[in-house]
Amino acid sequence: MYVIPAKAGIYGVSSSRDPKIIYYCEVPSFAGMTRLLFTKGSIMDLKGKNAIITGGSRGIGKAVACKLAENGINVVLAARGKEALDQTVSEIKEKYGVQAFGLTTDVSELADLQKLVDFTLEQLGGIDILINNAGVSSQYPFEKQPIEDLEKLCFTNYLGYVRLIRLIINHMIERKSGSIINMVSGSTVVDPVPRTFITYSSLKVGLRAFLKGLFWEMRDHGIKITSILPGVVDTDLTDKLDSITSEQKDRLMSPDSVVDMVMFALSAPANACPLELTVINQKTPWTKPIIDYAQKQAK
Ligand SMILES: NC(=O)c1ccc[n+]([C@@H]2O[C@H](COP(=O)([O-])OP(=O)(O)OC[C@H]3O[C@@H](n4cnc5c(N)ncnc54)[C@H](OP(=O)(O)O)[C@@H]3O)[C@@H](O)[C@H]2O)c1
Repeated sequence: MYVIPAKAGIYGVSSSRDPKIIYYCEVPSFAGMTRLLFTKGSIMDLKGKNAIITGGSRGIGKAVACKLAENGINVVLAARGKEALDQTVSEIKEKYGVQAFGLTTDVSELADLQKLVDFTLEQLGGIDILINNAGVSSQYPFEKQPIEDLEKLCFTNYLGYVRLIRLIINHMIERKSGSIINMVSGSTVVDPVPRTFITYSSLKVGLRAFLKGLFWEMRDHGIKITSILPGVVDTDLTDKLDSITSEQKDRLMSPDSVVDMVMFALSAPANACPLELTVINQKTPWTKPIIDYAQKQAK
């Protein structure tokens, strides 16, 4: 791995996949823009580490879980639907030979989150990596959004992340290490947040702010906090979009582009924390709605 000296690379955008990946990294405004040239060789040895991946049964979470397992990381996957969960767990065990478990979990339920942490500690003895990823999405003009839908987004996409971190953080503080990687959203870099999407996006804005603050609190404990801000990715979540044309579908990114960001974060040198990594659809104009779509209620 070669890193051309930069003042402090923090935000990043991926432009291509292996073997050479160029990351343009911004630093906070006080330091201005800088560019980090990162040539990726073999990934740091992650073998034997233990990870929780929420929403690991499908979509981005599944792609991340498979890549972690490929790198020798033991995984505990959490999702509500047992069938997809079991299927993914057996695929991982068979293909990668790591320890892999699935626990049916609703991340909007505090008791389920506690069970997930207890289960992981029982099975694996420690938690090195948390991939906070489980999320739902919906689109409404605000005056038409059912209150239940709004609350579901809050309890899943915001509290689901923050509560789980709270339940794990003291374990990581005791061990003086840990990596917490969070799927936030590229919609947080759009200002104002996209119309009819404001509950989802503003919760992600709040989450992003929380995570940035948390980094500064956790830095001296050796814990890394990373937010990943993906554009529109080809998963079940976007399959729920109504009236999506084949041209729009072609503009979606593969989950692999997000997986690259996760691996970048996990393979950063010990004294570097990729705080925010943004990977955006090359073909999507920023200043327009990400996709003109109508989306059904969060499920
Ligand atoms: N796709 C995109 O364009 C995009 C862009 C930016 C950010 N993101 C974020 O990336 C994350 C993953 O999205 P995705 O596109 O991979 O979605 P997806 O394909 O719909 O997968 C969502 C995963 O989360 C699980 N899940 C949903 N609600 C849950 C709950 N209450 N408790 C436990 N698990 C739950 C699902 O399993 P069950 O349904 O079985 O529970 C599934 O495993 C989300 O946080 C999303 O906001 C996605």
